[in-house]
Amino acid sequence: MKKYALILAAGKGTRMRTELPKCAFPILKKPMIEYIIENIEKSVIDETIVVVGHKKEVMEDILKDRVKYAVQEEQLGTGHAVSSAASLLENEEGITFILPGDMPLMEYPVMDKIISSHLEMGNDLTVVTMLMDYPKGYGRIIRDEYGVVNGIVEELDCNESQKLIKEVNSSVYVVDNKALFETIKKIRRNERKGEYYLTDIVSLMHQTHKVNTFLVRDPQITMGVNDLYGVGIAEKYLRDTINKGHMLGGVSIVNPETVTIGHNVIIEPGAWIYPNTTLMGNTIIKAGAVIGPNTEVLNSTIESYAEIRHSIVLDSIVGERTTVGPFAHLRRNAIIGKDNRIGNFVEVKASTTGDHTKAAHLIYIGDAEVGSNVNFGCGSVTVNYDGVKKHKTIIGDDVFIGCNVNLVAPIKVSDNVFIAAGSTVTQDIPKGAMAIARNKQINKEDYSKNLIKPKPKPE
Ligand code: UD1
Ligand code: CA
Repeated sequence: MKKYALILAAGKGTRMRTELPKCAFPILKKPMIEYIIENIEKSVIDETIVVVGHKKEVMEDILKDRVKYAVQEEQLGTGHAVSSAASLLENEEGITFILPGDMPLMEYPVMDKIISSHLEMGNDLTVVTMLMDYPKGYGRIIRDEYGVVNGIVEELDCNESQKLIKEVNSSVYVVDNKALFETIKKIRRNERKGEYYLTDIVSLMHQTHKVNTFLVRDPQITMGVNDLYGVGIAEKYLRDTINKGHMLGGVSIVNPETVTIGHNVIIEPGAWIYPNTTLMGNTIIKAGAVIGPNTEVLNSTIESYAEIRHSIVLDSIVGERTTVGPFAHLRRNAIIGKDNRIGNFVEVKASTTGDHTKAAHLIYIGDAEVGSNVNFGCGSVTVNYDGVKKHKTIIGDDVFIGCNVNLVAPIKVSDNVFIAAGSTVTQDIPKGAMAIARNKQINKEDYSKNLIKPKPKPE
């Protein structure tokens, strides 16, 4: 039996109040619809059709040719969305697994379970339901006196007693194709909302077909994201799930509700993550590394026993046992060696350093190749930009750079060089030299009284 998935993702998502169509909106930086497609690709489904409409090019750009598309030109409701896939599905034997595109948390094992239950029970229609303490916003499941489901009533159309029903429609269905497309034609437009409700297939099928429900145990996985508050709730659920996985894998996370870790981040057991830390993209944190508090790491590798505190690290590599921060910024290809110290208010961009190099306070290192055992004095700067072009600084091993030194690039500082504090260096420095490039000091005897009046001393 061929198994199709039909995902309803044509809606604008008015309640989101965002520019992006709802199903394209990111949760932990990944579009909602991608979660669904990734899981469907792992499930027993053979073929997937996504109903697109509002800003369909955005949706198609995300999913490309991973799925087939049906276009719903005008969004006249979930029932109408299904009928826009009729030309692709109505003549096919098989079953269709219908999912809303705003339900990112259901994983494929649950999908497979729902489908096999549908087949084992011999249902024509299975409605996936959940129990909600606060069912507001969801369609309520209506049952007859024998407990058999015979309808779904949307919140807007509920009377007071129906509003109290806690079993709600998840908007996930498994249905026989032929029965679906026969029934969908019979749906009448809801007068209050002016839409064709897919939920009406239940009342239309329950007398002529075998209609059943499948109750999911964890209502969180079937939550529909309708607004930015819903995005927050889904994100919290994912954050907890991801953090739990890392903690069970041997990573210490302190105050985990403040720590956000992306899907592709790899953390070795024995690493520590402190509060208010975000690790995203293709980041790798090796054993023994300590990250945070208050740190952001994106697409970077942090080697064993390195420490990053109160800092930002983007597209960079931090070597073993190196300490970064507080308040440092490594960005775009900062490749820092082992046992370095990158301290307060230090920025490193597109540069490499050897081992045991220190840049402890108030330093900018840009477009530089720096050796081992280099000491950057407080306030030293690689002057890499002449207003038009960026230029390179090369610094050898065992170099001492005094405080407030400007290295005007392009420039080469060889091994074993000592540069006096306050120098503005514009020429290459040969191996073993000491460079001093500043005006000689003049002391004018007895002159300061012309410039500052001594303050009267208190009696
Ligand atoms: C829907 C269900 C409700 C259920 C809830 C679960 C209906 C009438 N109501 O309500 O019973 O409890 O989901 O989350 O089905 N869409 C289209 N085209 C349209 C309208 C919607 O493709 O014309 C898509 C949307 O993009 C969305 C999905 O269908 O992904 C659900 O639509 P939404 O407006 O969120 O329905 P709810 O009001 O949440
Ligand atoms: Ca919804």
